[in-house]
Amino acid sequence: MKKKAFIFDLDGVIVDTAKFHFVAWQRLAASLDINFTEKENEQLKGVSRVNSLKKILEWGDKQISEDLFQSKMAQKNQEYLELIKTLSTDDILPGVHDFLIKLRQSGQPIALGSASKNARPILEKLGIMNLFDVIVDGTDVTKAKPDPEVFLSACGQLQMQASESVVFEDSLAGIQAANSAGMISIGLGDPQILKEADEVFQTFTQMPEDYINSLLNKKK
Ligand code: BG6
Ligand code: MG
Repeated sequence: MKKKAFIFDLDGVIVDTAKFHFVAWQRLAASLDINFTEKENEQLKGVSRVNSLKKILEWGDKQISEDLFQSKMAQKNQEYLELIKTLSTDDILPGVHDFLIKLRQSGQPIALGSASKNARPILEKLGIMNLFDVIVDGTDVTKAKPDPEVFLSACGQLQMQASESVVFEDSLAGIQAANSAGMISIGLGDPQILKEADEVFQTFTQMPEDYINSLLNKKK
């Protein structure tokens, strides 16, 4: 039987938490008098918490002390945790659960490859922790996307090669990370923004019926 490593980003791929990250960053930017819109937010997708705050400060041309930096990061995360308090199975994005179950049934190795330090509790809230063989998140890596570390670590732990791996991502940084690792990159979202991906779908429900099979036969 053919096998590939199937590696999933979390925020914006499995669950629509991207909108909550946006709200929390927007509040934080406002507290520093920095303008922050959907346009800037797009550039923060897939980007670690610390690098996101650095970018926001750069855009606002603001310098703050290390102490204030740390407290702003904590404040953002607190707001975000408050916003995702009620996440449940109902918040899994359309088609994702079915897709994961089909992969399981066909015996494919599955990993999570997320920049988030909140990934494990979120998977628990969604009730899908058991569908992943390996979880690599923001607490496990030192280099943030677009560095491929998170995906290389995931495929290594699944004992697969990068060339045998498929990554599902909603962010440009994540697509670039997958591409630089030599992995097949599947974008979820806007094809204009994700044009570096090997293929792009709006949602999992738009993938053809036998898509898993075609991915198993696909070469980078
Ligand atoms: C990524 C999100 O998955 O995780 C980013 O796309 C977020 O928006 C990053 O900043 C870090 O997440 P967290 O939960 O550790 O702040
Ligand atoms: Mg994402």
